[in-house]
Amino acid sequence: MKKIILTGDRPTGRLHLGHYVGSLKRRVELQNSGLFDKVFIMIADAQALTDNADNPEKIRQNIIEVALDYLSCGLDPEKSTIFIQSQIAELCELSFYYMNLVTVSRLQRNPTVKSEIQLRNFETSIPVGFFTYPISQASDITAFRATTVPAGEDQEPMLEQTREIVRKFNSIYGDTLVEPEILLPENCVCQRLPGTDGKAKMSKSLGNCIYLSDTAEEVRKKVMSMYTDPGHIKVEDPGKIEGNTVFTYLDAFCRQEHFAEYLPDYASLDELKAHYQRGGLGDVKVKKFLNSILQEELEPIRQRRKVFEQDIPGVYSMLKAGCEAAREVAAQTLADVRKAMRIDYFDDRELIESQSQKFKA
Ligand code: TRP
Repeated sequence: MKKIILTGDRPTGRLHLGHYVGSLKRRVELQNSGLFDKVFIMIADAQALTDNADNPEKIRQNIIEVALDYLSCGLDPEKSTIFIQSQIAELCELSFYYMNLVTVSRLQRNPTVKSEIQLRNFETSIPVGFFTYPISQASDITAFRATTVPAGEDQEPMLEQTREIVRKFNSIYGDTLVEPEILLPENCVCQRLPGTDGKAKMSKSLGNCIYLSDTAEEVRKKVMSMYTDPGHIKVEDPGKIEGNTVFTYLDAFCRQEHFAEYLPDYASLDELKAHYQRGGLGDVKVKKFLNSILQEELEPIRQRRKVFEQDIPGVYSMLKAGCEAAREVAAQTLADVRKAMRIDYFDDRELIESQSQKFKA
């Protein structure tokens, strides 16, 4: 069987470090690994509209931001098909059929949807489109016959829902759809990078994100004002590592060679942590170290972004070509689905033949 990747992001803002360590960086590696027959990267604008129906302009403006973030991280349209969800009408039709295979109570149990409903204060007025977005996500994944979905752990319930739909579809209509697997980040701190304020998740509405497109100065300021251990007041005080955002980020980004380069007094992250816990190591020193590491990671991304920003029409053309290519693939899956569901009336000569026989008899 072919190995196919599909994954994507909602275009509700520029992408940040949470996206980067949770999925984006890995996607680029997978794209370049040569292990996959196809890579599809989707800008999930229709899904973003499920809780932003009153703000289409926000989604419209962020399409290009996300596309630029993708390109500057190294997603390459020569190797990956980058496309926009709303342009693939076939996805809606698939969702319409999949809806018959899912119960309301099953959707109500989805933990990601549950917590998002709370987050958005939707309890009493959940838009139907929002409530059913796990079904639409199953369409995204299955339309491209994806075997592999690189994503953060918050997407696990979506994958579980997708697999259930695939199994149910295949058992009723015959083997047609492919069951996908999630590919979680290897480094578990990367599964959910906290915000710079120490809150559980980076999120635009909390204002605690470091964006891939932030300037060097913006990144430096954000790092220098990061949440650490509030009990660590004087340099001599012993400090805590758990829940200390600066160390969590170091767990996500620091590699052995960074010490020789930026902090030669220490041989390893363990040594640095031990010193902090003992007391005698100030936050500023650790923050400066983290800043150097992040700048090293982000600088090439910023440089590439500048180049792509000079050719915005070219980026839109790339997206348009991606949509056309994606649509062909989705249309083929939809044709198979219609056939399996026995709604391909006009392509089925046997049907017409047998019906004529029936009425002649
Ligand atoms: N739900 C994903 C997010 O929150 C975006 C998304 C839409 C997606 N369709 C997808 C991710 C299909 C992986 C596969 O960002």
